[in-house]
Amino acid sequence: MFAFSSVCGSPVNAEACRSDEGWVAPARTLVRDWRLMEPIYDTIGVDYGAHRAPDPSIARHIEEHLEGLTSLVNVGAGTGSYEPADRSVTAVEPSWAMIRQRPDNAAPCVCAIAESLPFADNSFDGAMALLTVHHWGDLSEGLRELTRVARTRLLIYTWDPDQASAYWLINDYLPEIMELDRGRFLTTDKMLAMFSDARAFPVPIPKYCRDGFLGAYWDRPKAYLDPAVARGISSFQQIDQRDLARGLTNLERDLESGAWQKRYAHALDRPALDLGYRLIVAEL
Ligand SMILES: C[S@@+](CC[C@H](N)C(=O)[O-])C[C@H]1O[C@@H](n2cnc3c(N)ncnc32)[C@H](O)[C@@H]1O
Repeated sequence: MFAFSSVCGSPVNAEACRSDEGWVAPARTLVRDWRLMEPIYDTIGVDYGAHRAPDPSIARHIEEHLEGLTSLVNVGAGTGSYEPADRSVTAVEPSWAMIRQRPDNAAPCVCAIAESLPFADNSFDGAMALLTVHHWGDLSEGLRELTRVARTRLLIYTWDPDQASAYWLINDYLPEIMELDRGRFLTTDKMLAMFSDARAFPVPIPKYCRDGFLGAYWDRPKAYLDPAVARGISSFQQIDQRDLARGLTNLERDLESGAWQKRYAHALDRPALDLGYRLIVAEL
């Protein structure tokens, strides 16, 4: 039997986890032993909360699509960013390093993975998966599980590498990120093709974005040189560290010489930039 872990806040919503036979065990042997592996965020996520706060502008894009959803499961929930306080939320997160950083008043959290959700069919109105699907061992299986446990709608906040090739950070300094991310993110078209009724909404990244993911510092290039900021960006951790050091040294050199400013300072007037981040909204 799968052991449920009520980590933060009140115990996990029992109704959401119970089937006619009692507590629901994860059915798929494929991922039964996932806890024998160390979740990657146990290493790269130890100070996630320091640089990854929810950004209000991104939160608004998500909230717009929550209408009619009273209960939600947030899969790959991390430290709880973007979990709406005015609805019943159950979080799912495999990394204890992330779970420990959830605030005391955050939604209750189950330690599990997307590919084997410990909930009965149709347990929730909606399911959210925010900046997480590229980390899943089996994306199709994870999406199947989201579709199984949610009744009405899925919200998937993700990144489309095809829409981001012009980003100066990747283009000029860290093309290795594109190689890595083409292998783990789906393009918008491929993502939409996974569902019968889905739409993609661009989520432009605002100036001074508070959520320190890869595209967050487009207006503050120096921030990428800060090792603490770099630790919050998973693709920085997952490319060859010699490539990372080379790219960041070149960025530092161009910032000092003024070459970066000459090429890109004109874009800094913009309030937000489309860097390929997309909210996929699938009606079930
Ligand atoms: C970039 S963080 C995003 C966290 C949070 N959704 C947010 O927006 O801040 C990615 C999260 O996905 C989690 N994750 C990795 N593999 C997973 C899997 N197979 N199933 C569910 N979550 C997973 C990681 O542990 C990590 O917390």
